[in-house]
Formats: sequence, structure tokens, C-alpha cells
Amino acid sequence: MSLPDGLSRRAMLMKLGILFNAAVGAILAVPIVSYILSPVIRERRPRYESWLKLGPLDRFPAGQTRLAVYRNPVVNPTDGETANIPCWVRNVDGQKFQVFAINCAHLGCPVRWFPQSGLFMCPCHGGAYYSDGSRASGPPERGLFEYRHKLEQGNLFIDAGQMPTTGAPTAGLTNINVGRPPCA
Ligand code: FES
Repeated sequence: MSLPDGLSRRAMLMKLGILFNAAVGAILAVPIVSYILSPVIRERRPRYESWLKLGPLDRFPAGQTRLAVYRNPVVNPTDGETANIPCWVRNVDGQKFQVFAINCAHLGCPVRWFPQSGLFMCPCHGGAYYSDGSRASGPPERGLFEYRHKLEQGNLFIDAGQMPTTGAPTAGLTNINVGRPPCA
């Protein structure tokens, strides 16, 4: 192969090397830049951020804590029953509600509500929580995680996509809007 005038073999190889390195650098930069910019350019997922209905308020009598189940808004066709997620709904007094994640704040085992003792108990390591979700005893360092919720047209909705984190408040209570029929 003949080289262009004035271009030595060494210069030609140097240019090819620079070109090759630039191409490799660009290819490697794509995932790194995508990762860095992902919080900005990430596609918003409306299903993930939507409010999910837990059911009509009369399913949750005043003064009681009941199990409810919702369907994970971000599911795969193969998820099956595993996408059905239980949570505990506490109707404090007909005016205020709390919705707790079923998972223990220690290592995530499902807690169970015992109305006789007024405690949530964890079967794994003996963690216990009071009826308002606050820690009673055992290894958990905090209370139960709590879902944001709202009441609309006689139904209870939760912000299920916002999975509980350690930054979430434990025992915030929400007032039912005045004028709504009491649930009992
Ligand atoms: S997972 Fe509940 S106490 Fe450890």
C-alpha cells in the first residue's frame, strides 16, 4: 500500500492508534456518562409513582388493624403471586389511618399483628412493635416503615411505589377529610 506524500509509516501508525484509542474511549464513556446522568435523564415511570387503591374504607373498621394486599405496580409477566404485596392498615379511631409495610425494619421478615396484645410481632428474631408502628423491643432499631396514603371517594390509596426507607417517618397520622362518611 502506498502512503500519501509526506506521511511516514510511523506517522500513519500514530494517527491510526490515536483514532483507535478515541473510538475505544468513546465506547467506554457511554455507560459511564449514562450512569452519571441517569438521575436527570431517567424516564419517569408513571405506574411506579401512581397511587394504588387498597379498598373501600369500610374494609378497615375503626380501632382495628387489618391486612390488605396490593399489586406491585412494577411487575413482570413472570412475577405471579410474588407481585401481591401485603401491608397492615390501621384505622386509629375512624378519623386517622396508618399503613405499615409488612416487613420488619430489622431484616425484613413479615410481621404479624396480634390484637390480643396490641403488638406487631416478628417471627424471625423477636422484634416487636406497638400498634402505632413504633418499636417496642428486639433487634429492630426503628419502627415499622409506613406508606404515604390518602383517602378519596371512600377508598384508601397508598403511594406504593415509594418503598419505605430509613428516612421515612414512622408514625405519621393522616386525618380523614371532614365531611366524609365515617368508616366503621
Ligand atoms: S427480621 Fe424481624 S427481628 Fe429480625
